[in-house]
Amino acid sequence: MHAKVVVVGSLNMDLVARAERLPRAGETLTGDGFFTVPGGKGANQTVAVARLGASVAMIGNVGDDAYGPQLLQALQVEGVDCQAVASCAGVSSGVALIVVDAASQNAIVVIPGANGLLSAESVQRADSLLQAADIVICQLEVPQATVAWTLVRARELGKTVILNPAPATGPLPADWFTNIDYLAPNESEAQALTGITVSDQDSARRAAEQLLAFGVGKVIVTLGSEGALLVSAQGCQHYPATPVKALDTTAAGDTFIGGFAAGLARGLSEAEAITLGQRAAAISVTRAGAQPSIPYLTELQP
Ligand code: RIB
Repeated sequence: MHAKVVVVGSLNMDLVARAERLPRAGETLTGDGFFTVPGGKGANQTVAVARLGASVAMIGNVGDDAYGPQLLQALQVEGVDCQAVASCAGVSSGVALIVVDAASQNAIVVIPGANGLLSAESVQRADSLLQAADIVICQLEVPQATVAWTLVRARELGKTVILNPAPATGPLPADWFTNIDYLAPNESEAQALTGITVSDQDSARRAAEQLLAFGVGKVIVTLGSEGALLVSAQGCQHYPATPVKALDTTAAGDTFIGGFAAGLARGLSEAEAITLGQRAAAISVTRAGAQPSIPYLTELQP
């Protein structure tokens, strides 16, 4: 069976420390917990698609260290098609150093490792996966040139293209926008892309409208506990979030993106797919870690 969704992106091993608060510059803090779990925005979104009911393939790289096989296995046990996840000789796997505080805030340093070697040629070699898919998802933890190539190719093939511009450090290249059906930033990413301070629904709508003017099909701004805003030429729709007590917000955005894509792939309406992504993300923030926090579809049934 061909995968309906293809994710082009990163795989990281997350080294997670819990502490009462995040450390200040130059400070040494004593934490109260440590664990190592598979993560990476690309891999997290892939796992979310799989657990939320759609077939998915991943295009990415791992290193030839001890983490590489573990990252690959974490996808394989979910039934992900990993034929296009390569092991790069002499390179370490992507790693994320994450500190989570008592208020469930986090700070993350990512070392790309093998993710930094994912080339446009690697994606080109997996063209049959793109051809067979309905939906292609990218993020920004692999080289920009690779993302740019993928967006163009996916558009050329007539696929539904989703870009989660994370992590965003500034504006995107102007020629990317018309290749994107759904651009899905969070508040800080929307701000980085537009220069507009995004702090509420009104500012999120203004940022989204600017992105639409750049040529994006639709924009979904995720606003954490304030829900999500879908902005398109047809108008603006707010989707409130389910109130939950957050323990760890790592991968909540990834769970939303994966759930949304899985919903679309399964033929749900856009509104239903957004709601599915939100319900899954709401569960994920009540659990620790990236991939272990992502729920299965059965957990969302009433
Ligand atoms: O979005 C969460 C992810 O960001 C983590 O799993 C970490 O690997 C970083 O890439």
